Amino acid sequence: MCSSRSDQQQAAALCRRRRKRRRRNPEVCEPLTRSSRLSSDIIRSCSSNMADIWQDAMDHAVATARRAGEVVREALQDDRKVMTKSSSVDLVTQTDQKVEQLIIQSVKEKFPTHSFIGEESVAAGEASVLTDHPTWIIDPIDGTTNFVHTFPFVAVCIGFSVNKQVEFGVVYSCLEDKMFSARRGKGAFCNGQPLQVSEQKDIKQSIIATEFGSSRDPEAVDKIFSSLRNILCIPVHGVRGAGSAAINMCLVASGCVEAYYEMGIHIWDVAASSLIVSEAGGVLMDVEGGEVDLMSRRIIAANSRAIAERLVKEIDSFSLPRDDAPPPPLKP
Ligand code: IPD
Repeated sequence: MCSSRSDQQQAAALCRRRRKRRRRNPEVCEPLTRSSRLSSDIIRSCSSNMADIWQDAMDHAVATARRAGEVVREALQDDRKVMTKSSSVDLVTQTDQKVEQLIIQSVKEKFPTHSFIGEESVAAGEASVLTDHPTWIIDPIDGTTNFVHTFPFVAVCIGFSVNKQVEFGVVYSCLEDKMFSARRGKGAFCNGQPLQVSEQKDIKQSIIATEFGSSRDPEAVDKIFSSLRNILCIPVHGVRGAGSAAINMCLVASGCVEAYYEMGIHIWDVAASSLIVSEAGGVLMDVEGGEVDLMSRRIIAANSRAIAERLVKEIDSFSLPRDDAPPPPLKP
C-alpha cells in the first residue's frame, strides 16, 4: 500500500520513467536499485500496474500489418510478376518481397536488436532458427497463390516470440479488412471483437478446413487424399479451404469451422495464428498427437481436444524437412 500521497506520486513517476525506458529498449527491464526511496510495498504495487512489456511491439505490429495490407491491396490493381520457389506451384511475387522488407525495416527502426524469420528472407538463404531471443516471424502474404489469382483471401502475418513462446500474433486479412490479433493470456480479437471457438464437440456436425499445399510429390499427394477421404467419410458436414493457412486458423478461432489441419505449412504461415487459436479457446496438436512443434511443418488447430484427437486418428501423416533443418549441401 502506498503510505502517503507523495509516495504515491513518486511511485507513479517511477512507473512512468520505467515504462518510458522500456518503450525505448523493451528487452531491458532494469531492477529497482537499493537506493530507491520507495518502500517494497510501493514497488510491488508499481510492478502490478506495470504496462505489458510487449504491448508497444504489438501495437507496432498491428500498425505495420495495416500499412502492409494497403501495399498488398494496391498491388492487386497492377500486373503481378510471378516467380517460383521450391516448385512450379510454390509462387512468389515482387509484392511478397517488398512487403517483407517494409515490415522488417519498420521493425528494425524501433527494435534494432530483435531477430527475424521471414518467408522471403529464408527463401533468399537466411537461416530459419527460432532462439530465445525476441523474434518476429513474418509471412508478408499468406495466400500468395490467391493473391496471384485475385482469389480474395490473403493475409499479412506477424508473429512475435520470446523464449520460443509466441507472445503475440497479428493476422491482417487485408481484402476483407479483418485485423485478427492475440496477446498471450489476454484473448483473441477480430477488429476489436473477442473471438471464441465453436462449442461443437461432435465431428459429424463439423466443418473441417485443410489445404493441398504446394507439394506435388505423388506419395505426399496420396496421403493428403487418403486423409481427406477418411475425414469426409466420418462423415463431416463439409471440408473447406481458404487458400491461406493463417485465415483458415482464424476461421477456427472465429468459430466458423471446427478445425484446420495441414502437412506442409511453415512456421511463418502459422506462428501468429496459432496464438489467435489458443487465445480463442482452441487447441493445437501435431497430426500424430502430442504437442505441436511450429518448425515441424504440420499442425492441427481445433476448437477442442476431442475433435483434434479424432482428426489424429484419420490423418495419414507424413514427415517433411523441418523449417530449421540445415540447407542441403550444394551439388558439385
Ligand atoms: C501457403 C498458404 C497455403 C498453404 C501452404 C502455405 P504462402 O502460404 O498458406 O494455404 O496450403 O502450405 O505455404 O506460400 O501463400 O505464404
